Amino acid sequence: MKKLFLIVSLFVYGSTFAQMNSVHIVPAPVELKMHAGSFSFNRSTEIIAGEPAMHDAKMLNVYLNKLYDFSLPIRSKLPESKPGNSIILKHLNSNDRKDAYRLDVNSNSIIISSAGNEGLFYGIQTLLQLLPETKAELADNTFEIPQLSINDYPRFQYRGMHLDVGRHFFGVDFIKKYIDYMAYNKFNTFHWHLTEDQGWRIEIKRYPRLTSVGGFRNGTIIGHYPGTGNDSMRSGGFYTQNQIKEIVKYAQDRFITIIPEIEMPGHSSAAIAAYPQLSCFPGEPTAVKDGTAWAGSRVGKQVQQAWGVFPDVFCPSEYTFKFLENVLDEVMKLFPSKYIHIGGDECPKTAWKRSAFCQQLIKEKNLKDEEGLQSYFIQRIEKYLNSKGRNIIGWDEILEGGLAPNATVMSWRGEEGGIAAAHQKHNVIMTPGSYVYFDHSQVKNTDSVNIGGYLPLEKVYSYEPVPKELSEAESKYVIGAQGNVWTEYMGNTSKVEYMIFPRMSALSEVLWSPKDSRNWDEFSNELPGIHKRYELWGTNYCKTP
Ligand code: ACM
Repeated sequence: MKKLFLIVSLFVYGSTFAQMNSVHIVPAPVELKMHAGSFSFNRSTEIIAGEPAMHDAKMLNVYLNKLYDFSLPIRSKLPESKPGNSIILKHLNSNDRKDAYRLDVNSNSIIISSAGNEGLFYGIQTLLQLLPETKAELADNTFEIPQLSINDYPRFQYRGMHLDVGRHFFGVDFIKKYIDYMAYNKFNTFHWHLTEDQGWRIEIKRYPRLTSVGGFRNGTIIGHYPGTGNDSMRSGGFYTQNQIKEIVKYAQDRFITIIPEIEMPGHSSAAIAAYPQLSCFPGEPTAVKDGTAWAGSRVGKQVQQAWGVFPDVFCPSEYTFKFLENVLDEVMKLFPSKYIHIGGDECPKTAWKRSAFCQQLIKEKNLKDEEGLQSYFIQRIEKYLNSKGRNIIGWDEILEGGLAPNATVMSWRGEEGGIAAAHQKHNVIMTPGSYVYFDHSQVKNTDSVNIGGYLPLEKVYSYEPVPKELSEAESKYVIGAQGNVWTEYMGNTSKVEYMIFPRMSALSEVLWSPKDSRNWDEFSNELPGIHKRYELWGTNYCKTP
């Protein structure tokens, strides 16, 4: 379809050729038909939207302001005579899918129509990509948009991006930017990884030490693990409940669901530093690995300063379960999402093995071993969340020892976990490290410190979320995929942007566009235009390839 566009644009009259030749819509729409002629967009273009579409009209202006420093007049009724020079948002009263839209550009209007506000919003994101690539092109004159018709809807229902704010904390303004970046590429789920060994980032009123103690560390290793030293700088931060409410609303306005992750039973050093009774060994100081430089006190439990997997994990005691239920009660009040992510990955069993309490519990509950205990832990939390009307998502380790009955599995250690879960008729979100871990380097000779691994853009683009091993009936359990952004080696927002772009745009086509329409050569040919859009948004990005 993009080829067709280029051919048509050759016939367009000269002055607009340059503009038209630079249209790139990512993710590529399902159907795009080019027509002769153009629509003249300028600052007098009106937005016409009835009450049901008013939210979307306002969002269009939010983005025009953000990108071009102006907004358009909004009119709530169609004029008596045929409207001219207008963008008409039509909320259709139909049973069509709410995330589908049509976009028609003709000589005197642009019409976006959908049965849902969500679809209208996606149409607006497409329209933004038909507008100029630079502010200067719209400084004082008209911009010609080619006449075209688009019919569009997503392939997968779950189109996710993840962000780890535990290893490095990023403030509210950046989280909002991240949500806008997601919206621009039509993602609809933000997996917010809020708790880690190196920092607890969500205010919990009942347990203030989680953030006053768990939200900060006394230093961070320098360079690649185990590091060449420690910066000895206190760092951290957390989101207040009011800030979280503001961010949840910000995301809702953009049709993005936020799924919070509260990690358990592993990756819990920061929570244990705040409340040592959560450990099976509250009196033991935090173990520091040999070769890791440490800053500040080594007495008692500490927030971790290096990266990795740590043995001091939540003890499956009644104290811990009550604590987690209380925490989750506050989390559920803040996040209306159907899903709560409860982690479940990388939980060493060494502490449970040497804990007399855990060994007794294994016997009492008739569990096979420590993996059975992990399964007991996850199932107990699942039961609690199910009783409140929520469902859990966990990393694929939650398969070990038996899957909780209603759990959705996030497959990260390859696709095997996802395949096993789909065989068991459980929903699956694919996040295999070798295709969608955006903490891996995207250039061969890496130009900055990274966790390791090599994940070039083309490989992300080539990803197929539905494994061949699944039957057609089982394939429907793969509800989508997600890009993961672990931030051990992303100490600032510019690095995060560099690591996600353009890989996140490539992933958006994997998740949105029809499987058969994906074409790497076309996508890579469009990169210069895609880069220009990033520059318009003011984001950093990787220029290779
Ligand atoms: C993970 O990357 N540990 C889920």
